[in-house]
Amino acid sequence: MLHLHSLLRWVILFLLLVTIFFALTKNKSIRSSSLWLLISAHTMLVIGLYQVIAGRYGIIKGLPEGVELMKNKFYRFFWVEHPLMMIVAIVLITMARGKAKALNYKATGWLLFIALVIILAAVPWPFREVGSGRTWFPGM
Ligand code: HEM
Repeated sequence: MLHLHSLLRWVILFLLLVTIFFALTKNKSIRSSSLWLLISAHTMLVIGLYQVIAGRYGIIKGLPEGVELMKNKFYRFFWVEHPLMMIVAIVLITMARGKAKALNYKATGWLLFIALVIILAAVPWPFREVGSGRTWFPGM
């Protein structure tokens, strides 16, 4: 599950860039790329929800002894910041799909650009403190 979650990040980033490119160049292929983006983003939401609830650091496992949620950088990130920011990005991607279907290139481009910035800021990249020990590609 974590490997799939990690791999899908690249699929989503690729589809975001492609769809933004189609918005800039007013290409009708935006209809299909935005649909694939929507499917990937919603799959990510389901896997993410599973992880935050039942994953190795899931809510049902509880907080380790002595850890306070909002005072602990790691748990605050994975239980609050990462899920919230990603859900906002997925909502924007969903709104963008509606605009793309209507071939509203400008609105699609802006919504996806904001989603891209949020996702880039909320991924636990290996160079970030919260991402330490994590990899760029699943299994690597
Ligand atoms: C576009 C959306 C998302 C992207 C790009 C994304 C990306 C990532 C990445 C790259 C990791 C680290 C994977 C690794 O260690 O190799 C991760 C971990 C995690 N994500 Fe997401 N995520 C997204 C959405 C979500 C959502 C919506 C949730 C929860 C509702 C979520 C919950 C988690 C959790 C709990 C972890 C830590 C899992 C663990 O280490 O056991 N993610 N995410």
